[in-house]
Amino acid sequence: MRRGFPCAAALLLALAASGCSRRDGPVDGATVFKPCASCHQIGPNARGGFGPQLNALFGRRAGSTADFAYSNAMKTSGIVWDEPTLAAFLRDPDKVVPGTKMRFWGIHDERDLAALIAYLRTYQDAR
Ligand code: HEC
Repeated sequence: MRRGFPCAAALLLALAASGCSRRDGPVDGATVFKPCASCHQIGPNARGGFGPQLNALFGRRAGSTADFAYSNAMKTSGIVWDEPTLAAFLRDPDKVVPGTKMRFWGIHDERDLAALIAYLRTYQDAR
């Protein structure tokens, strides 16, 4: 019964340590974007796929790219994406756009969120 304990404790310590060192260094927005990339394209020639392409997002009306079939919830949300609306949506998609098709648990670390939004902004001029 107790024999598994040291291993479990070591694992927890290792997890805690890696979490700490990550918090100390700069957060890389490209890394935070990785899970998004399984559904979203961004950058030159990005197209709609499982999710809409995310170029030129700031100032874009939610649900407005031509090559993606959005939910009615997104199309009628009335949102124009900017930093506050993106941050709120990415924290909790279903709360900001109830009924959205985007199945994502949300980003809750403020530094990850800031790095991600800065990363998205670097594609503001991509087409
Ligand atoms: C499992 C697939 C999936 C993942 C993972 C995902 N999304 Fe989405 N996303 C979608 C879908 C589908 C929509 C369209 C939602 C709708 O129509 O209701 C969407 C919509 C969006 C929109 C609104 C775009 C527009 O044209 O109005 C933004 C912004 C967005 N996602 C950003 C992200 C970011 C950033 C991440 C990573 C933190 C992410 N998404 C992760 C599937 C996903």
